[in-house]
Amino acid sequence: MTTGTVPGGSFTLPGTSMTVNRMGFGAMQLAGPEVWGPPRDLEGARAVLREAVASGVNHIDTSDYYGPHVTNHLIKQTLHPYPDDMVIVSKLGARRGEDKSWIPALSRQELIDGVHDNLRNLGLDILDVVNHRVGGFIAPTEGSIEAPLTVLAELKRQGLIRHLGLSNVSPGQLAEAQTITEIVCVQNMYNVAHRSDDDFIDDLGKQGIAYVPFFPLGGFTPIQSSKLDAAAASLQATPMQLALAWLLHRSPNILLIPGTSSIKHLRENLKAATLELSSEMIAELDSIGGTAGQ
Ligand SMILES: NC(=O)c1ccc[n+]([C@@H]2O[C@H](COP(=O)([O-])OP(=O)(O)OC[C@H]3O[C@@H](n4cnc5c(N)ncnc54)[C@H](OP(=O)(O)O)[C@@H]3O)[C@@H](O)[C@H]2O)c1
Repeated sequence: MTTGTVPGGSFTLPGTSMTVNRMGFGAMQLAGPEVWGPPRDLEGARAVLREAVASGVNHIDTSDYYGPHVTNHLIKQTLHPYPDDMVIVSKLGARRGEDKSWIPALSRQELIDGVHDNLRNLGLDILDVVNHRVGGFIAPTEGSIEAPLTVLAELKRQGLIRHLGLSNVSPGQLAEAQTITEIVCVQNMYNVAHRSDDDFIDDLGKQGIAYVPFFPLGGFTPIQSSKLDAAAASLQATPMQLALAWLLHRSPNILLIPGTSSIKHLRENLKAATLELSSEMIAELDSIGGTAGQ
């Protein structure tokens, strides 16, 4: 069985046979408050996953450090066996402390254990894509990623990972990574109001590499912008829908993984891909970057 098509078109990860609909789903919001423990509404969380897939979503972003393990368990319990074209992207490079903190986990053993945890918790023999997550909470920190990425490249050669991506990296770190292994996607923070990666996105586009923004709606601090609000109202859309539509228009290599625990918001987000933006509106939205608060 395969999933259907959602508006927004599709994208094939470079050098792979993995084609995903550009409108995907981020699973982080399905864990409990502060991305810790079970969801407040377990059946509601499972319903969101079911409806996402029934609506054509075939790209789900997750991590074993959401919960920890909660979102991966939910995905397995709800969606396994997965549709043939489903691409589940996980992340390695951090773990959670007992105090709910986010702690780097980049040693050889932590990465090996992390791959096996993900395989078990997702019910897979091979992980489709693993993003190597480095850097600070929302921004990259310069420095070599050779040692941990070499471990992940080894695990890929062993057949435990199909493809590798990077998360929270600089262009220099991408260039270093590409001397070690092929990179199919980059996941950094980016949205209509936070546009530090504009040049990076264009460069990745030229290389055919997917750019998957995290916090596409602003994450823990939803995007606030009177320009976005006014433009959305003129289209009879919500500001969050327009923020997603703008990302789809920004570049064909951008794939979306908005996160929600709400069926209503999921439906709104999927519908965002049907919005048509005039060039005047795109210019108006372009002017938000760097001025709206984050
Ligand atoms: N690589 C990384 O370091 C990293 C970091 C953060 C996140 N991620 C990934 O990126 C995905 C997306 O990021 P995110 O979920 O943190 O942030 P986001 O998608 O920017 O925003 C999620 C927030 O927006 C709300 N929301 C979603 N749809 C909405 C709508 N239509 N109207 C109003 N509010 C809406 C959600 O609340 P409701 O639940 O109430 O809808 C939630 O509070 C995550 O799920 C995760 O997979 C990766």
